[in-house]
Amino acid sequence: MKGYRIADASLFREGERKVLWARGRMPVLAKIVERGESERPLAGVTVGACLHLEAKTACLLLALKELGAEVAAAGSNPLSTQDDVCAYLVREGVAVFSWRGMSGGEYFENLESVLDRSPEILVDDGADLVVTAHEKYPELLPRVRGGSEETTTGVRRLKAMMDQGVLAFPLISVNDARSKFLFDNRYGTGQSVFDGLMRATNVLIAGKVFVVAGYGWCGRGVAMRAKGFGARVVVVETDPHRAFEALMDGCQVCDMMEAASVGDLFLTLTGNRDVIREEHFRVMKDGAILGNAGHFDVEIDKAALERLSKEVFEARDNVTTYVLGDGRRISLLAQGRLVNLAAGDGHPIEIMDLSFGLQLGSVLHLAENRLPPGVYDVPGEIDADVVRTALEARGIRLEAPTREQEEYLRQWRE
Ligand code: ADE
Repeated sequence: MKGYRIADASLFREGERKVLWARGRMPVLAKIVERGESERPLAGVTVGACLHLEAKTACLLLALKELGAEVAAAGSNPLSTQDDVCAYLVREGVAVFSWRGMSGGEYFENLESVLDRSPEILVDDGADLVVTAHEKYPELLPRVRGGSEETTTGVRRLKAMMDQGVLAFPLISVNDARSKFLFDNRYGTGQSVFDGLMRATNVLIAGKVFVVAGYGWCGRGVAMRAKGFGARVVVVETDPHRAFEALMDGCQVCDMMEAASVGDLFLTLTGNRDVIREEHFRVMKDGAILGNAGHFDVEIDKAALERLSKEVFEARDNVTTYVLGDGRRISLLAQGRLVNLAAGDGHPIEIMDLSFGLQLGSVLHLAENRLPPGVYDVPGEIDADVVRTALEARGIRLEAPTREQEEYLRQWRE
């Protein structure tokens, strides 16, 4: 069994620079490692990961190693893997199976290479590793102590597995921790989407009509930042409370049919499929730009766009322009894959420090505790510890309630 499969091992120096830059800005990860380094609580444990393999993720994987684990990792999206980072990880002893631009078939082969190493703990982003383990590795399932899941779509899939009674081990939903969704989904996506969009297109946001499909935590963050850049924001939602919240936040709210004809820039973050489809392409303005920040590339119906086009060309890196029958041009970013990771570096470092602090804390929790199959919240102490450490690292002291205040809150007589 070959120890790794990556694009080019000679790229390690550039990968090292990126990782060192990130590492110095991840105090939460550093603190968790510092606490456990001497005892090496993960000694003898193999951790299998399916994550976006960029510099911050490398810091998580190296932290797992420092705590004693053997680590094998595959990329969680064919376009989010950074080859130089993978080269550095391999040099540091992580078994990496991934490269940017891998095909769908290669993507799943790489997940299998990770599972072939019989990991006891899985760290997943999108649930493909966990699903592949269930579908193709039945003999492995009883030996898996558990896993942790990073993202909304992954948690949705795991809950569906649990509801259908097929989930074979415990999974911790990092995504549902307050230290995750309040910051990563909102401020992380709110920044990284614009990083990817701007790098890919070099267009101005101000003065544009910016359509945000999905007003969950990620959509809220993107809408907030789009407004800050001077765009007029239109929100498309299926959930009435979220739609009303968008309205109260000052956005225009309508259905996609109406939004399609007025939008200049479109961003999907719904976690659902076919959010922008043929009837919408038919009414879009010439020059419309479409991107996705949902986990899978299913939100924009690429096949329909191709069907409607008489010509398709690569206008820039990460920009594909479709020329429709009547000459209108619609451009799709990063093939409809996560624009923030395919055309950028993903969320900012300080944000991933929190999210990966939760991942690392969850792995340690799974190593120390036997849990029955199910989807679990991150233990409250870990969630609180992550955000406290992040505050401490910034020199911010919390106000401590006085004894009288604590007592007051326990009383019901005024
Ligand atoms: N970097 C690594 N994982 C990421 C994620 N899930 N979202 C954004 N940036 C990331």
